[in-house]
Formats: sequence, structure tokens, C-alpha cells
Amino acid sequence: MSDIPRITIDQCGSHAGETVEIAGWLYNLRKSGKIIFPLIRDGRGIIQCVGLKNSLPEDLFNALKDLTQESSVIVRGKIRAEQRAPGGYELDLESAEIVQRVPESHPYPITPKDHGIEFLMDHRHLWLRSRRQHAILRVRHEIIKAIRDYFDSNGFTLVDTPIFTPAACEGTTTLFEVNYFDEEKVYLTQSGQLYNEATALAFGKTYCFGPTFRAEKSKTRRHLTEFWMVEPEMAYATLEDVKNVAEGLICFVVQRVLENRKNDLTDLERDTGKLESIKPPFPRISYDQAVEILHRKGSQIEWGGDFGGTDETLLSEEFDRPVMVDRYPSQVKAFYFQPDPDRPEVALGVDVLASEGYGEIVGGGQRIHDLALLEKRLEEHNLPREAFDWYLDLRRFGSVPHAGFGMGVERCVAWLCGIEHIRETIAFPRMLYRTRP
Ligand code: 4AD
Ligand code: MG
Repeated sequence: MSDIPRITIDQCGSHAGETVEIAGWLYNLRKSGKIIFPLIRDGRGIIQCVGLKNSLPEDLFNALKDLTQESSVIVRGKIRAEQRAPGGYELDLESAEIVQRVPESHPYPITPKDHGIEFLMDHRHLWLRSRRQHAILRVRHEIIKAIRDYFDSNGFTLVDTPIFTPAACEGTTTLFEVNYFDEEKVYLTQSGQLYNEATALAFGKTYCFGPTFRAEKSKTRRHLTEFWMVEPEMAYATLEDVKNVAEGLICFVVQRVLENRKNDLTDLERDTGKLESIKPPFPRISYDQAVEILHRKGSQIEWGGDFGGTDETLLSEEFDRPVMVDRYPSQVKAFYFQPDPDRPEVALGVDVLASEGYGEIVGGGQRIHDLALLEKRLEEHNLPREAFDWYLDLRRFGSVPHAGFGMGVERCVAWLCGIEHIRETIAFPRMLYRTRP
């Protein structure tokens, strides 16, 4: 169409003084008489253009002057360094092409005024274009990339696990059932862990990374029914290894986000000072100590119960970085946890609670490696033997102590972005009362 190079807004820095083309959408428009200031976004950034009536063809100037929000437009002009501009650059308009004009009769529904959350969630497919959502999802991308880099450079092999599964991993109460062929029932996976145990015994150290599902009727700011989880698993490993790897992973991810997503964190008004202090070692306490702290802080929790969201928040207030709580009562944990040999009523498991009240981001621990004990647990939990037969094989053929954990991506995103609710941490959230758009 033209010899003018097409660039994206984040590349403006290396094109100052040059005439370029940017393809995007109209984010906002200011005008005053003979001059217009279209604000263009292209998914990589936002740039203010300056259009003078005197230097543009009359019909183009008039068309741009009345251009509607989110109309798609290709602009051409010279990039000029401008200290006062948010991104540091402006574009002096030379020409433009309107690709689709949003009609006045049916304007873009999300305007700069305040909208209610339900309205915004109903328009999630468009809301993703706004600055805040954009920043959150870029931080999410960074987190996911950092997670993969961490495991890939520490000897883990990625082996993804199935989503249709015949058995429960985290308990039968939160399973989504799916009709498979010939009246067979399968479930959407709650966790890839059981399969990870097989792959860890095959590869040594593995991880899976994908969507997981929980039919949880919780309507909290921390729960989704579909969320992404990364799950490492290690053969010849114990609870202590889980703590060390989780600590290493979290510090690595936080560091990456601070290094690479500063602008997005600024857009989100995140207090990054709080993230700078996320350094090893994380405090490590036992469930018993956690209960003591909670009692001191006025909680009614009784020994043996699981922590609720409020308890987790109270606990995290005590520390300036994530806290690791180990040895929960076995009765509140899944069937596969190895009991503490010195105190069989507690499990060799650990939860990592994020700082600033963001709740549990990591759960994991050491798995039962003894065949007889695992068979006993399956029975106690009323789980169907047949569905777990292959899993029991892992205890028949070269069983070893092994351990792993799961980290929820969305909770990490909420925490690092410092946002209130998990619903904004994934492009199209699935929650108790939301499966659309
Ligand atoms: O503690 P959970 O249930 O652990 C497991 O599923 C283990 N099988 C993982 C393993 O050892 N391989 O879940 C792990 C993490 C939680 O700490 C939390 O971050 C996240 O997954 N999570 C959720 N995130 C959003 N919405 C929900 N409903 C979540 N449930 C768990
Ligand atoms: Mg958990």
C-alpha cells in the first residue's frame, strides 16, 4: 500500500524523526478548533497524534474530527519525542485511513465514565481493550513465561496431562461431570497431579501447565471454576524440596515481573515496594503455630479445621513476604498426602500464603509412596479402586518418596497486580454465576 514502515507503538523509540504507519483503534479524541488529538492504541501502547487542519486534506480532517471511539484506523506521520506525552512520543499526522467507523447510532458501549462491574463483565470481550485490563493480562503473560523459564532451566520436563479424567484428585465434591461416549462418565480435571506422579517417575522432574476445574460453589474474590495451574512433581523428593522449589519459583516470577512489567504495574498503581521485599527465605511455620497466631488475633478457629479466607488474611498480615504453613491435619487434606512419621495425624503438606492478604497461592507436599497405606486411604476416602489402579502401579514398580505442588496462576496475577478480585486476572473468567461471554 505504501513504502512507509508499519511499526507498533512500543517501537516508537527507535523511529523518532521518521515517518511511520501505525494500525490501531481510536482510544480517545480531543479537539480544539483547527487541531485534533486522536489517541491511538494498537495493543502495544497508546500514542497521541496531532492533526492540523492546515496540513491535512479537508475531508480527512473532518472525518477524523468526528471519529468515534474504537473505530479502527491506520495513521501515518512523523514520530516526535515529546517529554510531556505519556509514552514519550507523539505522531504528527500526515495521512490516515479509517478501516471501520463505529456508527454514532450504535456507539462503543464502554465510555470513560464509570460502569458497574456486571456491565463490564457482560462486555468482557470489549473491556479487554481498556488500559487496566490490558496491563493485568500483560502481567499474566509475563508470569506464565517466567514460570516456564524457571522450570525449563531447572531440569524439569514439560509433560502435559489430560483434562478428561476418570477419577477425582482433590475430592469428589468439586468435580464437573461430562458425558463421554456410550454412557461413560468422565470428569474435568481438578489437577494433573496423579499423572504428574507417573511422569516424574519416568522423567525425574516434570511439570504440567494447563486449565483445571473445580465445581466450587464459592462466590469469593479468590475462586474461579476454571483456572490455570502449574504443577511440578519430583521423584526422590520430600516436603522440604517442595518448599525450596516453591520459594525459588515465586521469587523468580516476582523478579521478572518487576523487571519487565514496570509500566503495567504503574498503570495499575501497584505499590512495587511491597514486591521488592519478596526475597528468600520465606518464613516457615507449622499449622500448630498458625493456629496459635490466629487465636492471638481473635480467630475462633479450632485445631483440625481448614483455614478460611479470613484466617489466611490474618496470617499473612504477620509477614512482609509469603509464609509457608506446613503439617496440616490429615483430615482436611486430600487422600494422597504422606503422613508425618513422627505425628501421623498431620500431613507432610505445605500451603504458601501470599503476602498482603492474597491467600493461598501454592498447595502441595509429599505423596504416599507405600502401596498398603495408599490402598487404605483410598478406602477411607471412598474412592473407587478401579479408577486408581494405574496410580497404585506407581507404588508397585520402583516406588520412591516423591513430592510436588500446584500454583494457581490467577491468584498470583491478582497478588502481583494488587487487584481486589480474581475475575480480572483471566481474559474470560468462569465463575459460579458467569460462563459468558
Ligand atoms: O491446593 P490445591 O487444591 O492443590 C492441588 O490441586 C494439588 N493437587 C496440586 C499439586 O500438588 N500438584 O490447588 C493448588 C493451587 C492453590 O494454591 C491455588 O493457588 C489454586 O491452585 N486454586 C485456585 N485458583 C483459583 N480458583 C480456585 N477455585 C482454585 N482452587 C485452587
Ligand atoms: Mg490447597
